[in-house]
Amino acid sequence: MLIDSYDRVVDYLRISVTERCNFRCQYCMPEKPFSWVPKENLLTFEELFEFVKIAIDEGVKKIRITGGEPLLREDLDKFIKMIYDYEPTIDLAMTSNAYLLKGTAQKLIDAGLKRINVSIDTLKPEIALEIAQKDVLKNVLEGVDEALKVGLKVKVNMVPMKSINADEIIDVLEYCKARNMSIRFIEYMENSFAKKEIKGLKSNELLAILKEKYEFEDEGFDGASPSHYYKMKDGYRFGIIEPYEDDFCKKCNRIRLTAEGQLIPCLYFDEAMSIRESIKRGDIKGAALVLKEVVRTKPEKNRWGGEDAEVSKRAFYETGG
Ligand code: 5AD
Ligand code: SF4
Repeated sequence: MLIDSYDRVVDYLRISVTERCNFRCQYCMPEKPFSWVPKENLLTFEELFEFVKIAIDEGVKKIRITGGEPLLREDLDKFIKMIYDYEPTIDLAMTSNAYLLKGTAQKLIDAGLKRINVSIDTLKPEIALEIAQKDVLKNVLEGVDEALKVGLKVKVNMVPMKSINADEIIDVLEYCKARNMSIRFIEYMENSFAKKEIKGLKSNELLAILKEKYEFEDEGFDGASPSHYYKMKDGYRFGIIEPYEDDFCKKCNRIRLTAEGQLIPCLYFDEAMSIRESIKRGDIKGAALVLKEVVRTKPEKNRWGGEDAEVSKRAFYETGG
């Protein structure tokens, strides 16, 4: 079992299979295109799988494939199947912008994927165009429908931002509720790659909007999920992810692997250790040692809300959020 210096069990690995993305979401990417990591620097699926096996053998129980946009990487279903075949009981999920889901959802579920998280920040095509800097809404909504149709469990993320999509919080919630998808509102996390003008809604502001329309109870946290849950009268639950709150990191159970082989102990900080070299030379023991060291050095907390708050320099498109 992997246990960090604050007695947290680390059993959740997020793997970013590419930093590339077909969207340029204002809260995630710089406005102007920039140079990507060259393709040859990416670890192959075989190499990533070597690390996955080590992680599972050390106690990882949940794996999420992220990006950038993971579906930009060819043959992703084959990678999912490799993981599934090695350990069918693994909780295997993916986070995607849903643009390419139509036409791939069936292959993904056949390969062993169970769940998918997608972003729906708006239901207005022109706002989707503004946020993603591309006309994406139609494909996203069709992709989500397809995922539901083939039987994937779908969770929706929405990042509410002032003067952009804050007036759609209820509409997006109702959209999800009607399709039996749970929704989580994510407080905008400041980072140096996002558009400077963005102002996110904090959970108290969100709750005030929701309270005008609904009655709900505070259910608190559920296991290791970073989400604070609320239950409405009819039983529907929504979540709020509040990284600025003091106890956000208390149950953190995750580490992140980038497509180049950097293992990251915390989303906020820049620190990372590479498993790339050990994996490339087939040194399983060496990679396992790096994994243990990264778990050991997991920081107690992020600094989004603290007194020493700074803008995080960690790129979300590299780490998969
Ligand atoms: N703040 C909050 N959420 C973000 N995401 C990406 N960047 C940010 C940010 N700066 C979310 C996206 C997506 C998930 C992968 O991370 O909305 O749902
Ligand atoms: Fe791409 Fe996701 Fe970043 Fe949007 S938030 S640019 S979809 S990686």
